[in-house]
Amino acid sequence: MEATKLATPTLDQKPYYNHERGFTLYQGDSLELLASMEAEQFDMIFADPPYFLSNDGVTCKSGRMVSVNKGRWDRSEGVEANHAFNLEWLKQCQRLLKPDGTIWVSGTQHIIFSIGFAMQKLDYKILNDIAWFKVNPPPNLSCRYFTHSTETVIWAARNEDSRYTFNYDKMKEMNEGKQMKSLWHIMSPRKAEKEHGKHPTQKPMKLLNRIVLAASDEGDRILDPFCGSSTTGLAAVEKGRDYVGIDQSEEYLDLSIKRFEDLL
Ligand SMILES: C[S@@+](CC[C@H](N)C(=O)[O-])C[C@H]1O[C@@H](n2cnc3c(N)ncnc32)[C@H](O)[C@@H]1O
Repeated sequence: MEATKLATPTLDQKPYYNHERGFTLYQGDSLELLASMEAEQFDMIFADPPYFLSNDGVTCKSGRMVSVNKGRWDRSEGVEANHAFNLEWLKQCQRLLKPDGTIWVSGTQHIIFSIGFAMQKLDYKILNDIAWFKVNPPPNLSCRYFTHSTETVIWAARNEDSRYTFNYDKMKEMNEGKQMKSLWHIMSPRKAEKEHGKHPTQKPMKLLNRIVLAASDEGDRILDPFCGSSTTGLAAVEKGRDYVGIDQSEEYLDLSIKRFEDLL
C-alpha cells in the first residue's frame, strides 16, 4: 500500500506506515525511539508493555494446556532489570506528554507494582487503578491459586499540576446514567477481533474505546509505545484522534496495518 503524507511528524526516522487519517507506525526499540522524539506532544498515552511473564509456565486456552510464552520480548531478565526498563520508558513518556496529558498502563502482578513504584518515583499523579475484570478467564490448571481474572490499568497525570481531561459525563452516559466505577467488566477479545491474525496479548476494543473516550477529545494525539496489533490505534482513529504506535516487530505492525485498513 502507498503511504500518504505524514500526518503527525514525530522524529527523523521514516515511519513504517502512515496515513492521512492520523495513523502512524514506527518500527524499532521504544527506548531508543521515545528518546529521540520531541517533548510535550501527546495528550494521552496508552502503554501495554511486556508483562515479563513468559517463563515457561502453562495456561489453558480453548480447553487445552498451552505454554504461557508470548515471545522473546516478554521474557524476564530479573526484577531489577525489569524495573530499570519500566523506569526508563515511563520517564520518556512523561517527557513526551503535554503538561495536562495522562498515561494509562496495563499490567498484571508481574509488573504492575514496578510500574506503580516507578510512577511514584517520577512524580506522576496516580488518578485511578482500574481493575479490569475479564469475566471469562481461563481456568487455573494448577488448582494452587485463585483463577487469575483481572488486570490492573493505572491511569496517571503527568504530574500534580496537570489539569487533565476526564470526560465524566460521557462515562456516566456509557454506564446507564450512573457514575462509572473503577471496576470494568470487559471480555477478552472475541474471534471477530482477530480475523486478520493473532497477537498473543491483544487487548479488547471495548477496553480501548472506553479509555480513549474517557481521557481524550477529538483531534488529540495519542501515543502507544508498545502497540502490538494497534488496538489503541483503531479506537483512536475511530474516535477522530491522531495515533502514533511503536513496536519492534514487523509482524505485529503488519497486523496493525491490516486491522487499520479494514476500518477505512
Ligand atoms: C503487550 S503487547 C501489546 C499488545 C497491544 N496492546 C494489542 O492490543 O495488540 C507488547 C508489545 O510490545 C512490543 N515490544 C516489547 N518490547 C519492546 C520494545 N523494547 N520496543 C518496542 N516494542 C516492544 C512487543 O513486540 C509486543 O507486540
